[in-house]
Amino acid sequence: MLRIGVLVSGSGTNLQSIINACKSGELNAKVVIVVSDNKDAYALRRAEHAGIPTSVVMKEDFRSRLDFDMEVVRILRESRVNLVALAGFMRIVTPEFIRSFPGRIMNIHPALLPSFPGLNVRQKAIDHGVRFSGCTVHFVDEGVDTGPIIIQAAVPVYPDDTEEVLRDRILRLEHRIYPKAIELFEQGRLRIEGRKVFIKGMKKQEDGYLVNPPLDS
Ligand code: GRF
Repeated sequence: MLRIGVLVSGSGTNLQSIINACKSGELNAKVVIVVSDNKDAYALRRAEHAGIPTSVVMKEDFRSRLDFDMEVVRILRESRVNLVALAGFMRIVTPEFIRSFPGRIMNIHPALLPSFPGLNVRQKAIDHGVRFSGCTVHFVDEGVDTGPIIIQAAVPVYPDDTEEVLRDRILRLEHRIYPKAIELFEQGRLRIEGRKVFIKGMKKQEDGYLVNPPLDS
């Protein structure tokens, strides 16, 4: 069974979706440790409620980003994780962290990468006037939100959307695609070649499309 370590900083709704998928049997996996850099993160309460061990690692207790990351690596190794899932973890991990789990770190980002990397991306998408945004699960490389893309989901964006409305529209799909990305990983169906992730046995949607506004509007 796949042993997942989840890194969080905030409310942990993505963590919850992964926990739920493990509990329901949809995922042949188990969240074995939740690490937070924020002792007040609601995600920690979700983990405790699910009986999952937690660990809080505070940046002020470390002299450098590297020391911080090496402590997190130590915790994850102690829990013998096979996959590290960043789920609203508000820190950029060091190259040393990435090298500790090669090809085994995923992140979820609330935009259609490579558009809108970084922070406050829903507001940026609204302000730019795009017709679609969405979410992306990708492997983590040494850049910010630049790693090979595993799965994306698109949602329409409207000029009068508020950040909150768009956030919820995207979040509903985040909760579906993160467990799916983990499932594909667990099934050994993902192969990274350069920037691309090939998925074994993937169905193609040759005629699939999305248009916003709809062509009949
Ligand atoms: C999500 O929007 C995720 O895409 C981003 O941070 C947010 C975390 O939300 N990386 P939650 O803590 O999972 O509720």
